[in-house]
Amino acid sequence: MNVNELNAVAKAMVGNGKGILAADESTPTITKRFDTIDTESTEENRRRYREMLFTTPGAADHIGGVILFDETIRQSTGEGVAFPDYLNNLGMIAGIKVDTGAKPLAGFPGETITEGLDGLRDRLAEYYSLGARFAKWRAVINIGTDIPSDFCIEANAHALARYAALCQEANIVPIVEPEVLMDGDHSIERCEEVTSAALAALFEALAAHRVALEGIILKPNMVISGTDAANRAGPADVAEATLRCLKAQVPAEVPGIAFLSGGQSAEEATEHLGLMNQAGDLPWELSFSYGRALQAPALDAWRGKEENFTAGQNALAKRAKLNSLAHLGQYETAMETAA
Ligand code: 13P
Repeated sequence: MNVNELNAVAKAMVGNGKGILAADESTPTITKRFDTIDTESTEENRRRYREMLFTTPGAADHIGGVILFDETIRQSTGEGVAFPDYLNNLGMIAGIKVDTGAKPLAGFPGETITEGLDGLRDRLAEYYSLGARFAKWRAVINIGTDIPSDFCIEANAHALARYAALCQEANIVPIVEPEVLMDGDHSIERCEEVTSAALAALFEALAAHRVALEGIILKPNMVISGTDAANRAGPADVAEATLRCLKAQVPAEVPGIAFLSGGQSAEEATEHLGLMNQAGDLPWELSFSYGRALQAPALDAWRGKEENFTAGQNALAKRAKLNSLAHLGQYETAMETAA
């Protein structure tokens, strides 16, 4: 492991106002997304959709890293350039999702543990040879009656730390993602309590596993009301609670924090990020690693139709630019209609 190299990659992913495009949907997940636009999920349609995203003119000005799925890292542009090579050449660093999904945690109804550690050392070596310089592992923490349990939080933190250590051994930057889900009617206070507990357990596990914090990216949820909460907290409260939680839990050695969008609308996710960066003076880069909040408008504009290819790219370009401005603390909601 070369910590300086890992640190340089992490900074390139989220420095200079840049953020990360999460395009690592598994085949079942992208099929669900395609269902919403009546598009068949064939291998060629998945390739063409990702090609539309990756070849968006100007994307590299705002996107420093792209998370790929196993199928996509082996696919190529229409001109025959392998996607990871295409992206790396433009300075959009190629990364790879390496977990194999959240599975029911035996004995703990309603809770999950993320799988994918067996054989991971060999898989990381192959992905490195294909051009991946970072990876992603998503742990899922559900809020409900009597959950999450401490055990679930600990088990997921342990798996994230084992994954992160293996990544760094392979000179791959681990994106460490403990996602507290928005599903449910819980309050923002409850989300803050659970997010704080998940982050505290995570950093304890990372230290125990000798993971170099200078060589990771943290991908957390924002502290936000549950989707079905009666009185959902507004943007200023989300920004304030999220910053309070992160400042208390995330050591300054971590070079970058890149949020997931988690079911927020594209505009909400941008507004929240913008408010946090306007609050200023943060020890880490505070950026985005959005999936749905970057892609939903592009998917909707494309609708699986070749004649909408440019419209899809324009929709992605707009979200990438506005999120980059939010990262720089220069975003205003009025830009949504002006852009
Ligand atoms: P969303 O932004 O759609 O939540 O996806 C980000 C991601 O990569 C989840 O693992």
